[in-house]
Amino acid sequence: MNKIAQIFETLEYGPAPEAPDQAYAWLDSHDRRFGHYIDGAWTEPGTTFSSDNPATGESLAQITDGSAEDVDRAVAAARAALPGWSALSGYQRGKYLYAIARAVQKHARLFSVLESLDNGKPIRESRDIDIPLVARHFYHHAGWATHLERAFPDHVPYGVCGQIIPWNFPLLMLAWKIAPALAAGNVVLLKPAEFTSLTALLFAEICDRIGLPKGVVNIVTGQGDTGAAIVNHSGVDKIAFTGSTEVGKIIRAASAGTGKGLSLELGGKSPYLVFEDADIDSAIEGLVDAIWFNQGQVCCAGSRLLVQESIEEQFLTRLKRRMATLRVGDPLDKSVDIGALVAPVQVERIRDLMKRGVAEGAHVYEPDGDVPSNGCFLKPALVTNVSPASTLVAEEIFGPVLVAMSFRTPEEAVQLANNTRYGLAATVWSENINLALDIAPKLKAGVVWINGTNNFDAAVGFGGYKESGFGREGGREGMGAYLKPKWEKALKPAAAPSPVTAAVRSANPLDSDHLDQTAKMYIGGKQARPDSGYSRPVLGSDGTLVGEVGEGNRKDIRNAVEAARSASGWANTAAHSRAQILYFLAENLDYRRAEFAARIKAQTGEDGEAEVDLAVERLFGFAGWADKYDGAVHNPPPRAVAAAMVEPLGVLGIVAPEVRPLLGSVALLAPAIAMGNTVVLVPSSRSALSMTDFYQVLETSDVPNGVVNIVTGDPAILAKTLAEHDGVDGLWLMGSVETSALVEKASTGNLKQTWTSRGLDYDFADPRFAGDYLLGKATQVKNVWIPYGA
Ligand code: NAI
Ligand code: MG
Repeated sequence: MNKIAQIFETLEYGPAPEAPDQAYAWLDSHDRRFGHYIDGAWTEPGTTFSSDNPATGESLAQITDGSAEDVDRAVAAARAALPGWSALSGYQRGKYLYAIARAVQKHARLFSVLESLDNGKPIRESRDIDIPLVARHFYHHAGWATHLERAFPDHVPYGVCGQIIPWNFPLLMLAWKIAPALAAGNVVLLKPAEFTSLTALLFAEICDRIGLPKGVVNIVTGQGDTGAAIVNHSGVDKIAFTGSTEVGKIIRAASAGTGKGLSLELGGKSPYLVFEDADIDSAIEGLVDAIWFNQGQVCCAGSRLLVQESIEEQFLTRLKRRMATLRVGDPLDKSVDIGALVAPVQVERIRDLMKRGVAEGAHVYEPDGDVPSNGCFLKPALVTNVSPASTLVAEEIFGPVLVAMSFRTPEEAVQLANNTRYGLAATVWSENINLALDIAPKLKAGVVWINGTNNFDAAVGFGGYKESGFGREGGREGMGAYLKPKWEKALKPAAAPSPVTAAVRSANPLDSDHLDQTAKMYIGGKQARPDSGYSRPVLGSDGTLVGEVGEGNRKDIRNAVEAARSASGWANTAAHSRAQILYFLAENLDYRRAEFAARIKAQTGEDGEAEVDLAVERLFGFAGWADKYDGAVHNPPPRAVAAAMVEPLGVLGIVAPEVRPLLGSVALLAPAIAMGNTVVLVPSSRSALSMTDFYQVLETSDVPNGVVNIVTGDPAILAKTLAEHDGVDGLWLMGSVETSALVEKASTGNLKQTWTSRGLDYDFADPRFAGDYLLGKATQVKNVWIPYGA
């Protein structure tokens, strides 16, 4: 070997430390003790705890453990700032966001060093990824603010937003939360995670420096109890949370029935699929980024490698070779790949999980070499000999641990990939564009990266399916999540339904001209008798018995959900075909208008003709939407495009309002099925006959079996069963305050998306329900990143 070749073989990186002096000087300027930042001023430090450097164990500063009173003060300050801030023009707010972005850039190195000191992440990442993305986020939202009136006409901010963030991307998560909130005209109370509050406190100083009006941004530090005080505060209008699925579920349950807005960005166990035709070197580099970026403490980490069996051995051998070159050590060393985990408790958590895994038979590979013995360091690890049921495959480890499994066919790859309670992200590697783009839509995840991984941009939405939470951050979706239509804020309580009087005539008065008709339920394309064997009366407005319907129970709901699940192919039916079927429904309902009008009149005493007209109009209208409410293509800075694909929620439970027995159901059913959802519908309990008549329209309109299922009965009981059912992906409930609270609480199991009317008067005759308001609720956006351009 000649000398130069030899040098390349033996080349070692020397240490390239980043100096912490300026960060220390900033901490010293606060005497290393912090209060909260409330109403544009620092409070006196209260009861404090230490924020440590996890690489050394040294204490960096004392920060205040926020009390309920502190939260109260911050909410009051925010509330007081709201009228002024929301009254500014979008342009004026945009200028403040622009100033924040500029200030973040001016102090970028201070922010990066402080972040790495407090969190343990390599300076290379905080300097090149976290902080530039923070600035990018504020710039992007300065633009949204400026164009808000045109982009979201007649929308208003929620008000006071309580934002709770985790420790893995401290300042970046702050930016994801604060930028859209402020752009929309909201005011904010944000609690950073207890391990990593320092950059949020430096951010407060930036807000001060640029002259942000006081009270618009309030930072309260503290632990879980402080977070809970924010969640439970009656003065908070919207909660945005990023963190563990466990705490996400606590927050869902705690906020049930309060009417607070809620977005949850939770955990993941994201699959990383490598097909046999992948560019293996790239796939391995991608994988390094997917699982060892930020020590694997990434909600969307590609922590589950699924590699095609034909290349498994070769791939794992090369992966191990690459793992051996990863440098673990001082986060402030510019040539370190893997820094420290955030805190000793996290290291312990990971070690415990690994012990459980090994006890179950998992094999663990770690490269040779040492890691610093002080501080929270772990080697990168590769786990094999696992199956889908293994602890290490099922649980989010949140550390530098990759689990590997293999698959034989693309079908098996999809099945394994989706075999998780999470659905945040997924990565696909294949040089075959047809294969990659065939797999992407089949993955149940909010973000899919093709031949790339961990791409983020402010213009592209991010967020999960299933137990990874709901709501999106970034992009138009994320912006919309901080706004609501003006009319929604003005909704009045619905008039209490008149009490049901006892039947004044006996059941089925025999009419000599007609045969007795039995209204059944409709499940899987078949008329079904209730499991209970009981019926319930349907009375007219004068108390006359006009008929009877089945008393549905849990079993009927379960059957209906099963039918709806097995009709999932509806989502893949071409939009044009779905439109044709909705048109056909409109046509057939129109054809029978007299009969339906008479039925409405008999049940409610109201003008049936007008209601049938509107129901036909809705079917016709949403048929027209089926092939128009679609996605967008974003052009983020890296060499990629992100296709924002509109997807249905899946199986949607709909509990229709008591009033308007036909329109109330059809107005909700039409957008749901137009977008590809399959539905379990509970019609008005008082006037169920309109919808039991409707299944005859369904049958004559080529609606595939299982796409619409109708279960009659007590809405409160059936709604609870739907809310608890893990096979239901979303639930709309038009009902009382109590039932709304009940279903929101009962929905925590699989974190299904709920939309409840909370006793408010949603008038589905209003044209505002003829368009994207309901289409938006019936869908979620999946962002698929595709390489594009050189
Ligand atoms: P965590 O979910 O407890 O912490 C996130 C934030 O929630 C922190 O600010 C915390 O103070 C706050 N919080 C805790 N309990 C709360 C409550 N009852 N009400 C309101 N706010 C509350 O996460 P933790 O305990 O730090 O980490 C545990 C595990 O959670 C990790 O090992 C990881 O698996 C997962 N995790 C996932 C994250 C993600 O982005 N997907 C982020 C952080 C943790
Ligand atoms: Mg810390």
